[in-house]
Amino acid sequence: MKKIEIESKMINFKILRFNPDDGKPDLKEYKVEIKKGTTVLDALIFIKENFDPTLSFRYSCRMGVCGSCGMFINGLPALACQTQVFHLESDTVEIKPLPNYEIIRDVVPDLEPLFCKHRDIKPFIVRKDEKELENPTNEYKMSPEELENISQFTYCIKCGSCLSACPTYATDSEFLGPQALAQAYRYTADVRDEGFKERLNVVDSPHGCWRCHYASACTQACPKGVDPALAIQLMKREIIFRMLGIKKGKDGAGLYSTPKEKKIREGTPSPPERTVK
Ligand code: SF4
Ligand code: SF4
Ligand code: FES
Repeated sequence: MKKIEIESKMINFKILRFNPDDGKPDLKEYKVEIKKGTTVLDALIFIKENFDPTLSFRYSCRMGVCGSCGMFINGLPALACQTQVFHLESDTVEIKPLPNYEIIRDVVPDLEPLFCKHRDIKPFIVRKDEKELENPTNEYKMSPEELENISQFTYCIKCGSCLSACPTYATDSEFLGPQALAQAYRYTADVRDEGFKERLNVVDSPHGCWRCHYASACTQACPKGVDPALAIQLMKREIIFRMLGIKKGKDGAGLYSTPKEKKIREGTPSPPERTVK
């Protein structure tokens, strides 16, 4: 039998409304005619423009890149801009703010704890050669294979979905959480980095990686295919190997040497003039 594709349908949106100045969160209903391809974010914008301009939600890029529009959609964390309403296969769509965060207003969560934890693990390349960092003379060496080892962890857009799904964070607000721990591993495993010891006091603390019991809810929640649960286990292994002396601390990758003379291949076009001096 030929599958009939629905082009449009009336969908009932139940959206959590919350104003910190006046009372309790409450679900409000809005009926919207949805067309094929419409995302949850499109529907929220339609509701705001046509039914209630006070409806608050957060978004920016509309293309799954900025991480602003994480919400709890029909009981699961997801990016509103990346979720098509028809893909939910339900006539009712319930939208709530991500769990495990304070609500600022309606479906806007307060992501400050996420960013504070992220900042705590020093999410940048740490080097001893500060002179080179301040006045770079060349690129640090990194092979395609070395990049591949960390590449999936670099896709994190800091949407906070993993932290909202983590049962450990739900009971321990000081737990560093999957996002920050995955980024701690991302930088530790980066061949250019020398910051393992500087991150250790946070990562190897009572609220650090050992609190994770590997339920992998974070990995299932991630809309970018990052596997924070795996990163945390690799981080634990890294700490144990270094403590037992199985693995030595590494010096960060060296610099590419600058060629002594310029060799330009025949036929290579000249670069355009600089537009910024
Ligand atoms: S694997 Fe660890 S960090 Fe991820 S949800 Fe489970 S307890 Fe939280
Ligand atoms: S790891 Fe995934 S779910 Fe967690 S903040 Fe990064 S992109 Fe979002
Ligand atoms: S609006 Fe940027 S990720 Fe959804």
